[in-house]
Amino acid sequence: MNDSDNRAIRAIVLGAGYRGRAYAAYAKEHPDQLEIVGVADPEQAETIPAPRYWGDWRECLASRPDADVVFVTLPDALHHEAALAALDKGYHLLLEKPIATKESECREIIEKAVSKGLLVIIGHVLRYTRYFAHIKAIVDSGELGEVVSIAHQESVGFFKIAHSHCRGNWSNSVKASPIILQKCSHDFDLFVWWLGRKCRRVTSFGSIKVFRPENKPAGAADRCVQCPEEIERSCIWSAKKMYLDYGSQLGYMFADTSREAMEKVVRDTDYGRCVYACDNDVPDHQTVNMEFEGGATVSLVMAGYTERNIRTTRISCTNGEIVGDGESLHICRFDGSSLNANCAPFSLRVDNPSRHGGGDFNLVVELLRLLHAGDRDEMRRVTEESLESHLIAFAAEKSRLEGGRVVELG
Ligand SMILES: NC(=O)c1ccc[n+]([C@@H]2O[C@H](COP(=O)([O-])OP(=O)(O)OC[C@H]3O[C@@H](n4cnc5c(N)ncnc54)[C@H](O)[C@@H]3O)[C@@H](O)[C@H]2O)c1
Repeated sequence: MNDSDNRAIRAIVLGAGYRGRAYAAYAKEHPDQLEIVGVADPEQAETIPAPRYWGDWRECLASRPDADVVFVTLPDALHHEAALAALDKGYHLLLEKPIATKESECREIIEKAVSKGLLVIIGHVLRYTRYFAHIKAIVDSGELGEVVSIAHQESVGFFKIAHSHCRGNWSNSVKASPIILQKCSHDFDLFVWWLGRKCRRVTSFGSIKVFRPENKPAGAADRCVQCPEEIERSCIWSAKKMYLDYGSQLGYMFADTSREAMEKVVRDTDYGRCVYACDNDVPDHQTVNMEFEGGATVSLVMAGYTERNIRTTRISCTNGEIVGDGESLHICRFDGSSLNANCAPFSLRVDNPSRHGGGDFNLVVELLRLLHAGDRDEMRRVTEESLESHLIAFAAEKSRLEGGRVVELG
């Protein structure tokens, strides 16, 4: 783009749900930097202020709106077709993860973008948080020597595993995508980024422990509002409890969180289903072991049954260790010497009001920077690197489905 005037970048939003609104909110705070010129969504387009609306992403792209970038924040299964169509029309993309639901489709999108010299930045928002970026800075400084191994846990949280991965949009690997791609492409992206190397081999195990039909209590109904009171009252997964009693934890996922709207959610939508009577097939716990180029080993635990949704990390290096509890970092050098000022822990406060520890807005800032800079090599590097995390996830799922067989990458 090579803009010298730093004009506002013009964006179209395809899908005005939780993620579309999260990125579009940047335009409200910084209208001089980002302008939303149109929104496509059949149900809630107008939740994002814009001069033009469409009911479907196809209608929108067919009218070729004048814009620089398309935000693809549609359900997973629509990413492939919409991303290819937008690239064909010459738009750069902010594409939510997963890139697409099949490995071949992910490759096709990235290859098309590269061949057309267009940028695809994936919604790997964790890279853009102060917390995870600080880990990257410490690793890159070399102050702790070389990374030898990483032990990392993504705690999904009992609330979220039931909401998203049992009752909700990401419960079925065919309708959406495997949980190890959906939930953990963020984590794989961090490993690739921190290590600056490719993953070579993967092995994985995982299954469903709790949300299985045979665990349904005798006499329980298929919807919580119809369940006998004595069963519903003692069930920790009751949708009435989750959305009406302490629903504020998930409120950000719904445009309307009024009592009336949430009662409708429990009464009429999939979120009111008994957790033992859903069409879920994604594991509620999965482990992945990886070996990277150069020999560094990484172990990931995706755990559904945890109190909080948080990530914890231990990075062992040749001369020291980084221990992260998801909010603060403990860093030590084995010789007891102190770290230089740039690597020492500092206040890891969020520096803007967006979700994901400020990562949502920081990702938009990076997108705007890349588009203004217009450096083709940098855009290509960013676009290609995003695929690595997905290749690890697909290999992990393959390994899990084949009983933990070692799967070689590339
Ligand atoms: N980066 C992250 O951390 C993160 C977090 C959550 C979700 N996601 C991903 O973001 C994407 C969107 O998830 P979400 O939570 O915003 O879902 P959502 O259901 O809240 O939003 C999706 C929106 O797309 C709209 N839509 C459906 N069909 C459409 C069509 N044909 N044309 C236009 N709009 C259409 C729906 O009406 C809905 O409003 C998914 O791919 C999801 O996996 C990423």
